[in-house]
Amino acid sequence: MARVVITGGAGAIGSNLVRALLRESAVEVVIVDDLSSGHEQNIPRDDRVLFLRGSILDQSVLDRAFNRPVERVFHLAANFANLSSIHEPEKDLLVNGMGTLKLLDLARRHLQFPEVAGDGRGRGVWSYRGSHEPGIHRGGDTISSESSRGSGGDGAPG
Ligand SMILES: NC(=O)c1ccc[n+]([C@@H]2O[C@H](COP(=O)([O-])OP(=O)(O)OC[C@H]3O[C@@H](n4cnc5c(N)ncnc54)[C@H](O)[C@@H]3O)[C@@H](O)[C@H]2O)c1
Repeated sequence: MARVVITGGAGAIGSNLVRALLRESAVEVVIVDDLSSGHEQNIPRDDRVLFLRGSILDQSVLDRAFNRPVERVFHLAANFANLSSIHEPEKDLLVNGMGTLKLLDLARRHLQFPEVAGDGRGRGVWSYRGSHEPGIHRGGDTISSESSRGSGGDGAPG
């Protein structure tokens, strides 16, 4: 069964994505979420779901998520809300910046055809090999972090 990693899978978008994936395909879903703004009750009870409670900044948690071949990564964990970047600038930068970088690096090392997709409609896509199959998907139309945007086509960062 294909393994999909979803960071922020206990959050608003992530938990709905988990449900949709379980409904539509035979996947094993690994959720990495520290429950800082998400809720455990958002996570569907299903044998195909593995919930790893912890931060995307914690390498031991990420090692567990990627200890088997992964087909796809959806990166939705975020310190989400503009105010948090004012009240907790360091945490915001670490989670949204370094956290995203860690996930991109893991995807590059673990996925067969790494690709970063922006809005799912083919815009803002940064593709290493032109494949539109396995890849890493970031929330909204953001490519590399909460605060940076891009609009490049295949093969070129935006
Ligand atoms: N909700 C929207 O309308 C919307 C629109 C466009 C883009 N987005 C983007 O989609 C993403 C998810 O949004 P959401 O609405 O689901 O937010 P959310 O706050 O509901 O979900 C984020 C999840 O990430 C988890 N998280 C936070 N820091 C973490 C960390 N260090 N390690 C592991 N997990 C961590 C939280 O516990 C939470 O479950 C964000 O990047 C957001 O900017 C959201």
